[in-house]
Amino acid sequence: MTQEWNLDGRQIVNWKTCDWQPYPALDGGDSNLEWHPIRAEAGPGNGYYLLKVAPGGGAKLHEHTGQEEFIMLAGELVDGDGTVLKEGDCVSYDPGTRHRTTSPKGCTLLAYIAAPINTVEGDDELDTMKAGRKVVNWHDAGFARYPSLPETADPIDWHPIRANEETGEGFYIVKFHPGSSSALHEHTGVEEFIMLDGTLTDPDGTTYGTGDCISLPAGSVHGSFSEKGCVTVAMISGPLRTLV
Ligand SMILES: [Fe+2]
Ligand SMILES: [Fe+2]
Repeated sequence: MTQEWNLDGRQIVNWKTCDWQPYPALDGGDSNLEWHPIRAEAGPGNGYYLLKVAPGGGAKLHEHTGQEEFIMLAGELVDGDGTVLKEGDCVSYDPGTRHRTTSPKGCTLLAYIAAPINTVEGDDELDTMKAGRKVVNWHDAGFARYPSLPETADPIDWHPIRANEETGEGFYIVKFHPGSSSALHEHTGVEEFIMLDGTLTDPDGTTYGTGDCISLPAGSVHGSFSEKGCVTVAMISGPLRTLV
């Protein structure tokens, strides 16, 4: 192993202890929505951020010009077709999805939005919403061997939700067994992930714990180790380049 790790520009936010501010993206700042931006991009609504919906709040009808993905961290969110999204659900919508959401009891989620959100007038497109939505709950997901990095002595597993097996791009659940590590690799795009259970240690010695939301910019180089095992959900926007 000759290549050194690079974790410059990394951000770590824990959703249970972070602060919140009014969410600015949808039509003048609906007071029922608050966010904590981790990687906020120009243009309404896109980036990587935590979103908290107050009881009775929600999002008016909007259209995603790119992929929308989120993880339900607490509470419930009701999608426009009546589907109830609950704690542990990992949700992926194809570009072009239109929907509105409500949260009678309130909820908190972690969102990855690839392109700006536009509020729109008109009706929900229920068929499109249903066809373009995938929901997997990490508590009861099945796992298979992760294919996108060379195997280590203690390989890692995944549950692909939207994924390219050859490049490692996509949105997927990753499980490290106790003692597992990922081979050293470079990210040609952004890697973002949340620790859902357990701990994971990066090569600079930083250990992430449950609730941590991590953002690694393009150009990051690392291989991670989990002493006791962990479950994460990752969103990876560019191909992985293996360095071992
Ligand atoms: Fe949305
Ligand atoms: Fe990585």
